[in-house]
Amino acid sequence: MEDEDYEYQRALQFDRRISRMPVLQHLTQILIDELEAGARDKILDVGTGTGRLGIALSSVVSGGVIVGIDPDRGMLRVAREKISERKLQNFSVVQGVAESLPFPSEVFDAACLLLSFHHFSVHERAVAEICRVLRAGGQVLSVDPILEKPADEAEERLNRLIEKAFKFAHGPTFRFFTEAELRGLYEGAGFAVERCQVLSFPFRWRKIEEVPMGAHWLQAYELLLEDAPSLVELFERKYFTFRERFGELVVHGEMKWVLVKAVKT
Ligand SMILES: C[S@@+](CC[C@H](N)C(=O)[O-])C[C@H]1O[C@@H](n2cnc3c(N)ncnc32)[C@H](O)[C@@H]1O
Repeated sequence: MEDEDYEYQRALQFDRRISRMPVLQHLTQILIDELEAGARDKILDVGTGTGRLGIALSSVVSGGVIVGIDPDRGMLRVAREKISERKLQNFSVVQGVAESLPFPSEVFDAACLLLSFHHFSVHERAVAEICRVLRAGGQVLSVDPILEKPADEAEERLNRLIEKAFKFAHGPTFRFFTEAELRGLYEGAGFAVERCQVLSFPFRWRKIEEVPMGAHWLQAYELLLEDAPSLVELFERKYFTFRERFGELVVHGEMKWVLVKAVKT
């Protein structure tokens, strides 16, 4: 088991890094706007991390409750510190995983997943659990990065190599989904999907720290240079180009997320 202080330092760094990325503030606001939360709602934030979404929601559901869940002790410690600094009464966090939610059935009005779905280990199980803890008519809102659906063998191979690079950092169960796969997972668990919308954001020669998962995208690029140079041009066309400018590595390209909005039937 990792040292608790190491996990805490890593979570602090994560929190600082993501709070400097305007695109993530933008995605958070899109999710909140789509949520249509009532002031007294009970909301579950699955994969809450350092509590960014829960904190933003706490004033939206001022008479309700937000519960964040995450397996990472360091993330939860940072979230608890932020909750305490801001004296928030209606947001709390617990340790656990999406695949086995420690809550009774049908207790939440809504569940949110902000950039967490692709980290889960058993995705079907997680969606089934989220469905179980929602009341009938309850909403699930998810924003998650995607890879584009491969159109041919080269694109399929490219996607596999990108995932391979991300697995080095996040472990063997890490995977990206396509828009259609996400829709199918929610429908298969008993949700009616109201919206499944691709959100694209361009990055015009930005520093790597400004691009979500920028370091991992660079690892994917380096893996391709080494193992499959013939796919580099395709990668640059569909995802990112890395160049050194004035002694600094910069990124140009586009990244895509999917917003899923679904209702428990
Ligand atoms: C990229 S972070 C996003 C955190 C937060 N939602 C945000 O937007 O700032 C992904 C989070 O998912 C959590 N996570 C990983 N596996 C999980 C699982 N099986 N169940 C719930 N959360 C999980 C990680 O610990 C991490 O905090």
